[in-house]
This record gives sequence, structure tokens and C-alpha cells, in this order.
Amino acid sequence: MTVRELQEKILQLKKETDTAILAHSYQAREIVEIADFTGDSYKLSVDATKTDAKNIIFCGVHFMAETAKMLSPQKRVFLANKDAGCPMAEQMDAEMISALKAAEPDRTVVAYINTTASLKTVCDVCVTSSSALKIVKALDTDKILFIPDCNLGDYVKKQCPDKDIKLLQGGCPTHASITVKAVEKAKAEHPDALFLVHPECVPKVVALADYVGSTSGIMNYVKNSDAKEFIIGTETSISEHLQYDCPEKKIYPLTKDLVCRNMKITTLPDVYNTLTGMDDGSAFEILMSDELIAAARKPIDEMIRLGG
Ligand code: 13P
Ligand code: SF4
Repeated sequence: MTVRELQEKILQLKKETDTAILAHSYQAREIVEIADFTGDSYKLSVDATKTDAKNIIFCGVHFMAETAKMLSPQKRVFLANKDAGCPMAEQMDAEMISALKAAEPDRTVVAYINTTASLKTVCDVCVTSSSALKIVKALDTDKILFIPDCNLGDYVKKQCPDKDIKLLQGGCPTHASITVKAVEKAKAEHPDALFLVHPECVPKVVALADYVGSTSGIMNYVKNSDAKEFIIGTETSISEHLQYDCPEKKIYPLTKDLVCRNMKITTLPDVYNTLTGMDDGSAFEILMSDELIAAARKPIDEMIRLGG
């Protein structure tokens, strides 16, 4: 069977089973093509609430499917590949953050959405990379504990000098692996290109950028810019999608090593198997108690209220 034939089968099964497919933009091209909604973490959280479909299949990582389930508890939500987890989401847990809160109860805990549902239950507000700055600025408190990504936290902190923002050592191993040397090499090879980065990169790399933004922020910047050449400092799929969407522009991935293994383990056959396995128990369904949903959803609702 060809990729196109498998995609056709998936589109047909999607209709028959009343399923919507949500795919993060780090997913491969053939998956993005069969999705109903694509975009960054913030957009997908909001999109999850918009669909009327009975089932959702998430092509992304575990915390994203969990977020979709919390926002649409009446729907059945599946993660297309059960092993797709975000290593950053596992770096801190509720016990650790509760202890820090007990020590400094006047700090508002701002959690990057890349966290587990259980950790979200002890946080005050969630943010994504596209909403973090806006939300931190909108908070009516100046004392903040920002978890778990110290690089995104540093980016926000630099732009909110009046706020007391405490950071912890956490972050995305994929983005944090980008070095200043790699940026210098890419800039030397493409001297006319603008350099765009994700705020999960280390501060020294972020300092070299012409634009800093989320996945969607970077994609929109390229599409709307009059410039013709761009070095992309985020997951390589973004470079690939952009080259398809903007054939007249030159898109250079900063390095071909910028691959999130977890985002890349989902395949088209995984999506097909999830669609055919929803009723026999073989598909990976996100199951959460009502109590967990109620508690973990609060900081997400707050994010949508402040970031919308
Ligand atoms: P955004 O989707 O917010 O750009 O985040 C990127 C990411 O690493 C998701 O895990
Ligand atoms: Fe997690 Fe980084 Fe992969 Fe995003 S790119 S899913 S933050 S490991």
C-alpha cells in the first residue's frame, strides 16, 4: 500500500468513527496532511474544545493528549503512539513543587504546559511558549515560580524585569542541545538568512536570534515576512512544513540533529491502528479520574482565560 492509499483509508475511517485528529506541527508531513487541526501546543489545546467529534486522536506527546482529555472529558481521547512522552514533562513532580510552595506560599506557580496532569494539580496557571509572556505580564502578582523550563523562564524573566521570577533547572533536551557554535556555522553558511528560534533554547542561543517564538509564531513569521531566507532553530519538521508552504523562500534547518525523538515515533500506521483499535481495547486511550481532571484543569482554564 502507498502512503497516499493509507492516508485515504484513514480519512475514510475518521468519518466512519466520528474522530478528529489533532497533530502538533512537529509531526511528520504525512501525518499533518490527514489532521483536522495542526499547530502549536496552545492552539491545539483550544482546538480540542472546538471539535464536535466523538473521539480525538492526538499525534504528539502524552501531556498534549492529557490536556485534550481534560478540556473535553466527555470525549474519548487517544494518543496515537503510547510511547510518545515528553522528557521535560517528567522532570518535576507534584511532591517536589508542593514542598517549594509550602516554603514560599506567596509565590504563584506558573507551569509550562509540558507537565503531567498530576503536577498541574498543584500549579496556579499553565502557559505555553506562545502565551507565556502575555500571561506572566497579566498576572496580578510579582512573585512567581516558573517551572519546569528554565530557558523559556529566562526568556520571560528578561522581559519582565520588575517581577521576581524564580527558575528551576529543567528544560527540553532537544532544544537545549543547540549550541552557539552551530548557530555561528549556519549564519556563516547563510549570511543573508534571518535566524528564528524557539524560547526553549538556551539564553546564549536566544540572544543571537532575529525572532523568538513558538512553533506557530515561527511559522507565521516566515509566511508573513518579506525576507527570502531563514535559519530555523526548532524541530526539523518545522523547516520541512515551511519549505512546502513557502516554495519561493529558502528554509534552512539550523542542524539536521534537531529532532525530537518522541515527536517522531508516531507513524501513519499508528494512526490507522488507533482508528481500528478504539473499540477492542488495543488503542491507547487517555483515562483519568473526574477528580484528577477537575484539579488539573484549573490552571489550564486559567491559561485560556488569560491568554485568549
Ligand atoms: P510549542 O508547541 O508551544 O511551540 O512548544 C513546542 C514544544 O516543544 C512542544 O513540546
Ligand atoms: Fe518535549 Fe522538547 Fe520534544 Fe517538545 S521538543 S516534546 S519539549 S522533548
